[in-house]
Amino acid sequence: MNLEIFDTYEILSYNVAEQIISAIIKKPEALICLAAGDTPKRSYEMLVQELKARKIDYGKVHFIGLDEWIGISPENPGSCQFFLRQTLLSPLEINAENIHLFNAMAEDIHKECEKMDNIIEQLGGIDLIVVGIGMNGHIGFNEPGVSWNKNSHIANLDEVTQKVGQKYFSTQTQLTQGITIGLKQLLNAKTALLLANGLKKASIIKKALEEEMTENIPASIFQKHANGLVFLDRESSSGLS
Ligand code: F6R
Repeated sequence: MNLEIFDTYEILSYNVAEQIISAIIKKPEALICLAAGDTPKRSYEMLVQELKARKIDYGKVHFIGLDEWIGISPENPGSCQFFLRQTLLSPLEINAENIHLFNAMAEDIHKECEKMDNIIEQLGGIDLIVVGIGMNGHIGFNEPGVSWNKNSHIANLDEVTQKVGQKYFSTQTQLTQGITIGLKQLLNAKTALLLANGLKKASIIKKALEEEMTENIPASIFQKHANGLVFLDRESSSGLS
């Protein structure tokens, strides 16, 4: 695991965008898996701007959405899909066949996991996965206690996730289950990038990176990722010794 600390959220976001751009330049048909959420928002805005300004060919890149709230429609602005489309996929005009998002409204939700696992396998594995960290240490919807040996799966959401998740929705919304890429797929990704910013993440970052690895803090898996990168802003790193 490689740790980098940047002075501000803006500089952190710029460096995240550059990582994604490097992955695309290195492999134009890269398979890139992206989280939604507040943390990567600015990185994606910068990514869109830079890809266009530098006329980088991203037409062959495949994008996977890391996770989704089960039962929440893609038209709901709080859904991960809405966020990814609005921030990144639509501004970049990515072809539908290069976009792979969980359908959280599917009747057979388990089939969605199978479909995603097959796509990842057929496309040769994930080249770059960009994730945030939840206040409980989750990654995607790999909730505290999850096995590190899981591919895509359905998760019952931890209380903290249900509560914190309300910030994405304009009205109180029932959030009980999620569908997510698994930690096995994160471990197998050629590069995994964990981001955090802000003081509120300082304590969970310390636990994830400095305490013993445990399935109770899913993000601590980064301690053993051969090609794991952790990018923090100064504030979120402030608990590290
Ligand atoms: C979102 C996701 C979540 C978030 C995490 C942090 O797709 O997978 O695990 O990355 O909850 O969320 P923010 O960035 O909003 O603090």
